Formats: sequence, C-alpha cells, structure tokens
Amino acid sequence: MADQIFAIIMAAGSGTRMGAGTPKQFLPLGGVPILQRTIERFREALPQARIVTVLPREHFQTWKDLCTLHHLDCPQQLVAGGITRFHSVRNALEAVPDGAIVFIHDGVRPLASVSFLRRLADQARSQRALVPVVPLTDTIVTDSGEGVDRSRLRAVQTPQVFRSEDIRAAYRLAYETSFTDDASVARRKGIPLSYVEGERYNLKITTPEDLRLAEALCSLAQ
Ligand code: C5P
Repeated sequence: MADQIFAIIMAAGSGTRMGAGTPKQFLPLGGVPILQRTIERFREALPQARIVTVLPREHFQTWKDLCTLHHLDCPQQLVAGGITRFHSVRNALEAVPDGAIVFIHDGVRPLASVSFLRRLADQARSQRALVPVVPLTDTIVTDSGEGVDRSRLRAVQTPQVFRSEDIRAAYRLAYETSFTDDASVARRKGIPLSYVEGERYNLKITTPEDLRLAEALCSLAQ
C-alpha cells in the first residue's frame, strides 16, 4: 500500500516585511488568497494528500471565512502556530502519524508546479529526505564586499519531504536559532539529506515586489 502523504502548509508567520496589515498569506494573488493557491496546487498534484494548515490561532476564523468566500472546501486540519517557524512545525507534526511521508511547505510559495510536487512524491519513495535547491545566478559578496565562490552555493526551497518518524524525532531537538528550515533540523539529527532540483519560479512571497512578480508569473501561465 502507498504511504499516506501529509502536506503541512506553514502560514503562521506575521508577514511584517510585506508592510500590509493583513498577514501576507491571506493577500490576494490573481483575486485568490496566496494560501489558497498554495493548497490548491497540492490538491491538484497530490489529491490523496492530507492537508494540515498552520495558522496563528487568532486567524483561524479569518481563514475559515476566506475559504467560504473563495469556495475552498477541501478538508484541512488547522493547527495553531508557535513563536518561530520551528515551533510551528513542531506543533503541526503532532497531527502526523508514523509511517507517513510529510511535505513541509511555506504557505507563501504558491507557484510550486504540479509536476515538481509529483516528482518529489516519486523521489520520496526511494530517498529518505528531499531538499529542493536552485543555483544562484547573481554574483555574491559578503557585507564587506569580499567575493564568494557562488558555484558552491545553493538557495534552499520548500517543500522539503521527510519520513514522519525522522522529522518528528528531529523536531524533538532543543530549538537553535540556526534552524531556519526543516533540513537544518534534520541535518542536526543526522538524517541523510538528498538535494534535488528546485524550481526557479517557486518564489517565496516576502515583499510587495515578490507579490507583483508572482502576479506577473500567474498571468503568463494563463
Ligand atoms: O518567516 P519566514 O519568511 O521564514 O516564514 C516562512 C514560512 O513559515 C511562512 O509561510 C510563514 O507563515 C511560516 N511561519 C510559521 N510560524 C512562524 C513563523 C513563520 O508558520 N512562527
């Protein structure tokens, strides 16, 4: 029998860099909340996946109202986030049983393609932990202007994919500020990571410019 897939969609950040009153995951992208677009991509790519949506507890009702307004009626388990992304993921993993494959994805990356998500699900059958990365194209320097060899650097994306027992064990580690994504936690736990090809368009919407760029990419795809 195929392993059960869980998609944990992280949306418990406050999104202060966007400068809007509304958390960025609720802002519209082509008229539909960013978070809804992210969830719909998963529904299309992996309809069997169980969706766990992680939100600030005070925004559960905001999100339920948006789902009603925009007709998103797929089953979702809502989990309250924590003080950092690490604590939010740790809370969400309590909703996941052993023996599952877990995708952990930023709710503000709505442009991950259907084929990319399916490729990850295929690769997860034979590899223990998947971390999508893309090469850097800009010249990179330190804050003092010193050049850095970019050929050895990669930008890390989500979704990152794990076996549930592995990632739950990793998230029992004590929090460290260097834990900025799930792979950094898994690596500290000694879980072997496979770096796989990410997608250039799999933007993390962080600033108003990112949102405009995402709007442009969406309209190109139509
Ligand atoms: O803060 P950062 O940009 O790294 O956030 C990445 C993702 O993690 C976002 O989708 C955000 O909503 C989520 N997050 C969270 N809980 C937090 C902080 C961030 O779910 N406490």
